[in-house]
Amino acid sequence: MTEITDELVIRGNHIKNRIVMPPMVTFSFHGDNGSYYGKQHIEHYTKRAKGGAGLIIVQATSVFGAVDSTGMWSAGDISALKQIASNCHEYSVIVMMQLHCGNFDINELSAEDVHSMQRNMKQAAIRACEMDFDGVEYHFAHGYTLCKFLDASYNHRTDQYGGDALNRARVLTQVLPEIRNNTHKNFIVSIRMGEYLPESKDGIEAAKTFEKAGIDLLHISFGMQPPTNPVPDGFICSPITYSGCKIKKEVKIPVIAVNEIRTEEQVRFLIENDYVDFAAVGRGMLVDPDFANHVINGAPVNTCLGCERCFWFTDSTLCPAENKK
Ligand SMILES: Cc1cc2nc3c(=O)[nH]c(=O)nc-3n(C[C@H](O)[C@H](O)[C@H](O)COP(=O)(O)O)c2cc1C
Repeated sequence: MTEITDELVIRGNHIKNRIVMPPMVTFSFHGDNGSYYGKQHIEHYTKRAKGGAGLIIVQATSVFGAVDSTGMWSAGDISALKQIASNCHEYSVIVMMQLHCGNFDINELSAEDVHSMQRNMKQAAIRACEMDFDGVEYHFAHGYTLCKFLDASYNHRTDQYGGDALNRARVLTQVLPEIRNNTHKNFIVSIRMGEYLPESKDGIEAAKTFEKAGIDLLHISFGMQPPTNPVPDGFICSPITYSGCKIKKEVKIPVIAVNEIRTEEQVRFLIENDYVDFAAVGRGMLVDPDFANHVINGAPVNTCLGCERCFWFTDSTLCPAENKK
């Protein structure tokens, strides 16, 4: 039986347990001296690293500006991000950065627009590696730009970036060799994506395409929309989490499942039954930075109340679970 505390090694990176902090933008935080990232972010991620997560995926960071050091790639941002990576390592946590390509209508992008985005996608990974992040996760989920490329019903492009699964994944796979050539051999390249693109078979095909291209890790959330289909009897997690379990059966690379995983029972259910390799706990880890240590030590967790609209999207100080402590 797999234990939550079993290590899993990805490209030489020893991930000490199976609990992941998924990427979550900290909307009410601000950086220092005009930067996007700063002390608040450093403190936020350091707390969760201290709290025992095996892998932390730092929030969506726009790739745009990576080539010319603008946007979220200013000197101040880089200094804060470097500190985040370093502090995570202090606690033996593997740390990756989520890379985001905005929300463009991909059917309207010219070939040059795509190439320019690809240059930033590549450069962002190289810079993350230089900052000592252990890897990057490309955000192919939640209906954003990269998700639209993958979705067979949304993508109507007639060039090399539209059509079959190989073409729809090409926006990344085309630059992957250059990313590999310019990062060290242990650098993880991962994908966050959904299962229904729009059919389950499309997500499975996309996952296999990425695996074949050399992607190291898959993080399964949802695609253009969250799935609503019921889960099998006895499955104690959500349909989105179930998507991760379905993709896990189709690939050999490790898979992270996510969504509404809030209790020790759910984490154990997913890991100990080998449904997936990792359980990502998002809001649960926002309200309880020590979520992973609490689960591992059998201590009670401060449970996310699952508000209709999470206060962390606006003002985290209003989070009722935070305030309940
Ligand atoms: C405040 C907030 C910010 C988020 N930001 C991101 C993000 O940057 N990138 C991303 O892929 N998902 C983002 N998400 C989605 C989470 O990664 C996660 O998939 C979602 O919260 C479901 O997991 P949970 O039920 O454990 O919270 C965000 C969620 C929240 C609540």
